[in-house]
Amino acid sequence: MSVRAGREFLAIPGPTTVPDEVLRAMHRPAVEIYSGPLLALTEGLMRDVARVFNTRGHAYIYSANGHGAWEAALTNVLSRGDRVLALESGRFAVSWGEHARRMGVEVEVLKGDMRRAVRPAEVEARLRADRKSPGGSTIKAVLVVQIDTASGVVNDIAAIGQAIRAAGHDALLMVDAVASLGCMPFDMDDWGVDVAMSGSQKGLMTPPGLSFVAANDRAREAHRTAGLRTPYWDWTEREAKEHYKKYAGTPPEHLLYGLRQALDLLFEEGLPNVFRRHQLLAEAVRRAVGVWAEGQVIGFNVIEPAERCDTVTPVLANGHDPDALRAYCDDKCGVVLGHGIGELSGKAFRIAHMGHVNAPMILGTLSVIEMALGALRIPHGRGGAQAAINWLGDQVPA
Ligand SMILES: Cc1ncc(COP(=O)(O)O)c(C=O)c1O
Repeated sequence: MSVRAGREFLAIPGPTTVPDEVLRAMHRPAVEIYSGPLLALTEGLMRDVARVFNTRGHAYIYSANGHGAWEAALTNVLSRGDRVLALESGRFAVSWGEHARRMGVEVEVLKGDMRRAVRPAEVEARLRADRKSPGGSTIKAVLVVQIDTASGVVNDIAAIGQAIRAAGHDALLMVDAVASLGCMPFDMDDWGVDVAMSGSQKGLMTPPGLSFVAANDRAREAHRTAGLRTPYWDWTEREAKEHYKKYAGTPPEHLLYGLRQALDLLFEEGLPNVFRRHQLLAEAVRRAVGVWAEGQVIGFNVIEPAERCDTVTPVLANGHDPDALRAYCDDKCGVVLGHGIGELSGKAFRIAHMGHVNAPMILGTLSVIEMALGALRIPHGRGGAQAAINWLGDQVPA
């Protein structure tokens, strides 16, 4: 027996639910690419992508996923043999560093782990030591994620920017905002971020296939001498006047129309409200997990509550099979949860709460997980979904 008929709910951390308005905006005939409405569309999107990064710098839109934007960010500011420092707080900064290594960049990982955020003091100490090394600074850039989608950690990018300045170091600060942009504040200029990148398929509520890079003046200065530049990713090529060059070829028009609609939805709701909605729903999830964790079988991956992010919550199953729980939620109830990745593979499931999500989606998901915990006889504290309801009811008064 199953109770899954009806609309499936995708609670994975990307791609996320695409709003019907966005799907409808994409359902249109192709248009001319050298003139006409597409030109104004591009101009508005470049401006508004910079707006969500909160920068007066330049934005670039790529027909690529997040891995493409990683490569775009690296090729535009680095040369073969340069050294970068990747700040570990899960999986993704290290993977970005691995990408750089395969492109001929020397990569040092500032050791962290899967359960905690980057410590800005450790960044400062490492950069001070680099500056004082006999030949002078060797680290050209620091790579870090704002939210690590595998661990569920949120890093304090403002504090990391401050640590770089406190060390008196001139490394570029390069930030992956794939799992955070459009879900929580990102103040590129105020935080001293030089290069930021993200993708379309999470907080920006658009299908996968677009990615974004924003660069400030310091990054564009580094770009002038970067040896890894290639024609497709190159910022200078994309700054040319011809519309065609802005995408290094045929623009991904339908995705652009979808993105326009998604950004309009975010701006209509108001970014501060969007961020608050994410905070509230994330905390509702945490309230539920906190109750399930009574008895110490179910548990949070991220140890420090303040380091738990507002877009995805990885939940440890401590000896029980998280994939059996995911299968129950999907097969019986039509809720698709994320699986644990990297070191958490086979050990955790992930509840996503990012993008086009609201109270029924999240409370429904929590109820289904609690149903699965019961059906699979996984020991847990009772009443997690109720705790989430109670807390959300208090926060959202009549
Ligand atoms: C934080 C983070 N960075 C980068 C990526 C890579 O993005 P993509 O899968 O679009 O290549 C992901 C994907 O989940 C991610 O979560």
